[in-house]
Amino acid sequence: MPLASGHTVETLQEEELQRHVEIFKGHTTGLVRLIPGRWCLPESYVKFADALYNFKFRETDVMVITYPKCGTTWIQEIIWTMKNNPNLDNPKAATLSKLRVPFLEMDALKISRNSSLRDHEPRMFATFKTMCPGRDPDDGIQLQMAEVMPDPRILKSHLPLSLHNPDLIDTTKVVYVARNPKDVVVSYHHFMRLLKCHDFVGSFDQFVQQFVDDDLYYGPFWLHLKEAWEKRDHPNLHFIFFEELKANNIVELRRLNKFLETNLTEDQLQKVARHTSFSVMKTREEKIQPPEENAAFKKDIAMTDGGSYRKGEAGDWEHHLSREQQEKIDQWTARNVKAFGHSFPYSP
Ligand code: A3P
Repeated sequence: MPLASGHTVETLQEEELQRHVEIFKGHTTGLVRLIPGRWCLPESYVKFADALYNFKFRETDVMVITYPKCGTTWIQEIIWTMKNNPNLDNPKAATLSKLRVPFLEMDALKISRNSSLRDHEPRMFATFKTMCPGRDPDDGIQLQMAEVMPDPRILKSHLPLSLHNPDLIDTTKVVYVARNPKDVVVSYHHFMRLLKCHDFVGSFDQFVQQFVDDDLYYGPFWLHLKEAWEKRDHPNLHFIFFEELKANNIVELRRLNKFLETNLTEDQLQKVARHTSFSVMKTREEKIQPPEENAAFKKDIAMTDGGSYRKGEAGDWEHHLSREQQEKIDQWTARNVKAFGHSFPYSP
């Protein structure tokens, strides 16, 4: 039976699954591909797929959609601050960003039998119990927190537009962030090594190969981007490049101010810029939750290579990708970028 989104579910079969779990030690519950698209997700996604597709968005929401590691946390903090804390005097800003911005499909990503949001995200679970008394956590902690959250909600998802209800973009403002795939693969590799529930133990070369084969968790990078790029002229979709946000931060904040209709003054925008700069965000969040003490992280990796606030730069890939890996990504990019028009960034 197809999902409400119209996708059919293919379960990864023995040999392919075996190859996958040999390098992703944490992925112990099986994976599926959703057709069309070959979106790659854990089997647990299927239980939540229709609830996610039928999620009731509000006109007042702002939805952040990104491929993983494209700057989701950064943009969600910018938007939350613009809407809720433009004078930097809201006490709620002292809580972790992830407790203020529900990650809609988070419960649907139960990749590891041993991973549980209750154990790995005790703060989130405590917030859920306060916000949703009497509700069953098995029905989705993040989904239910999102349902009861007062306006204005900022929500996030890594699912591509085609796995969301088409009404989403007609109802709600959507911000899509794109990032250079070379930086994405470096950041994603770090993250997949860092998180116990993924526990990537293969080589970086294998990881790069999986990325260009669309075999990583979530699947095809370019199709994800293309679905949003095709909608870039829709008045409810705002497209941002990570590199522009980094290089021309205040210009991008002004554009967002217009899109979100937040009417912040120049002084307020400057405050938002400082508050959401990499060093300020990293210091603030890591003070609340030091990476070495995060139960979801592998401690040795957190201590040597850092937590999810790693470098926060554009172009760090130059320090990580070999010439062969660069060429592989360039060829893959050249094949895929044609569909975007000749002025698209990231063309080799
Ligand atoms: P790096 O691993 O390259 O450092 P996501 O939030 O989508 O998972 O993306 C994570 C990436 O965004 C990480 O990239 C992280 O360091 C970077 N990031 C987070 N906050 C940032 C900020 N305020 N400024 C710049 N980059 C930021």
